[in-house]
Amino acid sequence: MKDQLNNIKIQAEKELTSITSIQELENLRVKYLGKKGELTSVLRGMGALSAEERPVTGQLANEIRAFLENRIDSARDELVKNERGLKLEKEVIDVTIPGKRKMLGRKHPLTIALDEIKDVFLGMGYEIAEGPEIELDYYNFEALNIPKNHPARDVQDTFYINDNIVLRTQTSPVQIRVMESKKPPIKIICPGRVYRSDEVDATHSPIFHQVEGLVVDKGVTMGDLIGTLQVFAKALFGENSKIRLRPHHFPFTEPSAEVDVSCWSCGGTGCRVCKNEGWIEILGAGMVHPKVLETCGIDPEVYSGFAFGLGVERTAMGRLNIDDMRLLYENDIRFLKQF
Ligand code: PHE
Repeated sequence: MKDQLNNIKIQAEKELTSITSIQELENLRVKYLGKKGELTSVLRGMGALSAEERPVTGQLANEIRAFLENRIDSARDELVKNERGLKLEKEVIDVTIPGKRKMLGRKHPLTIALDEIKDVFLGMGYEIAEGPEIELDYYNFEALNIPKNHPARDVQDTFYINDNIVLRTQTSPVQIRVMESKKPPIKIICPGRVYRSDEVDATHSPIFHQVEGLVVDKGVTMGDLIGTLQVFAKALFGENSKIRLRPHHFPFTEPSAEVDVSCWSCGGTGCRVCKNEGWIEILGAGMVHPKVLETCGIDPEVYSGFAFGLGVERTAMGRLNIDDMRLLYENDIRFLKQF
């Protein structure tokens, strides 16, 4: 029996050396020390021993059990330590690896220009109004005193959806919508997209953007219009910018003017950007036509107003030194990144 016990010890020790996981270790413990384990079953046979042999063998068995328990415990400690080490190794964070840089988006040049335009007018107490891009003929033309045979209605310029509905060719219809729904004093700007059946080139696009302005109150004069536009030009194109009004015709303003700003590139002496003119046209403006006020139920004997419509693309190109309008729509990131 002593030999049996010693063999169990040798065998168990040998197996212990090849254990690689806690599960294997547990299996080994059950195999030798468990209720039905080898050591246990040897001890069960102790009844057959003589009275002298029994305590000696019993002691040996207890020593071996204690020895094996000890070895198994320390083997378990070792395994746990290794497993934790492996896990730590796997989860190690290399703080020296360079970070992944996130691409930061930025404002489109048109949005930059539009935000600056809005800032100027909000600063002067204007509110922002909006209107639909798919517009009734009535608002886009009729109510703006553009009669049926006016050249602006020519199918070449206007995208018609049907006889009554167009893609708005200007932001001016918002003037009518605002005056219909609100009594003076009115002081609004309306930024928005407009559509004209134009060929694409360096200065034209069938879709572009305007900012409409409308002020209606008692005693509003042309002087107010000019002063307002001067503030706008200086804010966007610099303190030395000047504006110039050229007489023009719009059916919905009287008098009407086309407004130029002194060239942002040469300051007025003449260069390639302004085609040697020294001036660049950026907007149309005028005093709201009495007929238009009447159409909207506003008494032209009591109230007067001015309106203007400025091109956002033109403004952005001037403000940011962009010489081809197409660049604004191509969405080439190398171009857009510069602003
Ligand atoms: N709507 C005109 C255009 O698109 C511009 C304009 C607006 C002129 C307001 C006068 C007053 O050309």
